[in-house]
Amino acid sequence: MRQKIVAGNWKMNNTLDEGLKLTSEIVNMVSDEVNTDVKVILAPPFVYLTQVKGLIKDADKISLSAQNCNDNESGAYTGEVAASMLASIGTEYVILGHSERREYFEETNEQLAKKIDLALKNNLKPIFCCGESLEVRENGLFKEFVSNQIEESLFHLGEDELKKVVIAYEPIWAIGTGKTASTEQAQEMHASIRELLAERYGAEIAEEISILYGGSCKPGNAPELFACKDVDGGLIGGASLKSRDFVDIIKSF
Ligand code: PGA
Repeated sequence: MRQKIVAGNWKMNNTLDEGLKLTSEIVNMVSDEVNTDVKVILAPPFVYLTQVKGLIKDADKISLSAQNCNDNESGAYTGEVAASMLASIGTEYVILGHSERREYFEETNEQLAKKIDLALKNNLKPIFCCGESLEVRENGLFKEFVSNQIEESLFHLGEDELKKVVIAYEPIWAIGTGKTASTEQAQEMHASIRELLAERYGAEIAEEISILYGGSCKPGNAPELFACKDVDGGLIGGASLKSRDFVDIIKSF
């Protein structure tokens, strides 16, 4: 059975007080209301990781993720955070290649391959984001585009390394826009990603990889998205900032 996952990406939102209040609410609601085998991941900004970790330490369903790491081991990179630092404070996951990082910080597939390697070397599990723009969706080459992102950033990995990666398919045209991919569009892309993994790593390994959907996922559309055969959960932005919405999404399985 593939791990079902709901991850909340806070992006650059919340003060410390707001973030800790949100975390406490999620911890309580998950403990009271969620009895399915789902992994919940919280990805606050770097500065709150340690404090959020303190609040979730006894919540066995909830894990901690960072939103990024640098593609160098250490050194003179003012303002940056290394994978080893994240591991040293007990972070378990790291989101890599989010479309906002690709767009605003010009992250390339090649650079992401280096980040993936550093994350794995430091025992962090990468949540690798991929997804096409509206332009690529409309020109029809979206499967090729996403395949290329995955091939260039992940296909150098060995089997045991790949098994530690979570993939998040996030069509850029659906992120923060209120536009969600239809269940058909989501399932089609998720199946295509799994097929690609199967061609490279074999069907057995492809079956084990969790592939999350992201992009305007909400309590209203999560049940139908999560019911798709190849959708193993969600990477949630806006709706992860409200405890009630986020926990309702978790309960969609
Ligand atoms: P959204 O963001 O849920 O606000 O669309 C998703 C994401 O960027 O991961």
